[in-house]
Amino acid sequence: MNRDQILKEMGLGPIWKLRQPPKKKRGAAPAAESAVPVDPRTAAIAAMGWDELKQAVAGCTACELCQTRKQAVLGVGDVEADWLFVGEGPGAEEDERGEPFVGQAGKLLDAMLAAIDLRRGNKVYIANAVKCRPPNNRTPEPAETAACWPFLARQIELIRPKLIVTLGKPAAQTLLQQEVTISRARGVVHDFAGFPLIVTYHPAYLLRNLPDKAKAWEDLCFMRKTMAGLR
Ligand code: URA
Ligand code: SF4
Repeated sequence: MNRDQILKEMGLGPIWKLRQPPKKKRGAAPAAESAVPVDPRTAAIAAMGWDELKQAVAGCTACELCQTRKQAVLGVGDVEADWLFVGEGPGAEEDERGEPFVGQAGKLLDAMLAAIDLRRGNKVYIANAVKCRPPNNRTPEPAETAACWPFLARQIELIRPKLIVTLGKPAAQTLLQQEVTISRARGVVHDFAGFPLIVTYHPAYLLRNLPDKAKAWEDLCFMRKTMAGLR
């Protein structure tokens, strides 16, 4: 499958094609992209503001994860953030409290942010690939990340961050739409629909694999350098 086919399979194509419609004069015929069919749910989510998005996620039943969650976790932070960090999905504490990265992995994420002078909520937004906790913290299934994707897509579109950082494999794969190994995908700036994107390890992985913390530190320096070059 080529990239367009993969995007189509995942139901991802149309939103991003619509994002930058070709410049046209007022009153000109609608762009060809408007003719691409988008399913009604995706189209509705793509038009939501923050309040609607929060409500829609709270009541969402689009995948099986809704059956075991206590609450959906949309995300937290500055809606005008320069930095968007995307994790995998809520764990037990996040499911309990309704905020991403508040458990052990969250403590490490906060430390990683502090290392490059960032703070949760200050020019930083934190979200997850899936908004509901996978039972026993298992990895979300591709069907679940696909079902949840329109919410993350809308968050990206509303925030329009300068840089997206994915934490761990599921988030990287959701955004890059390909099989990814972190060791190979880190250290370069990827492109997601015009947004620069950097891949790094998930903090929960780093807690179990201390040697890779040095690489995560390199990644943090790389992110800071990349952001500096974007200003
Ligand atoms: N791990 C994640 O990927 N996200 C969270 O919100 C918490 C732990
Ligand atoms: Fe809906 Fe996403 Fe929760 Fe699935 S994980 S029920 S798609 S909000």
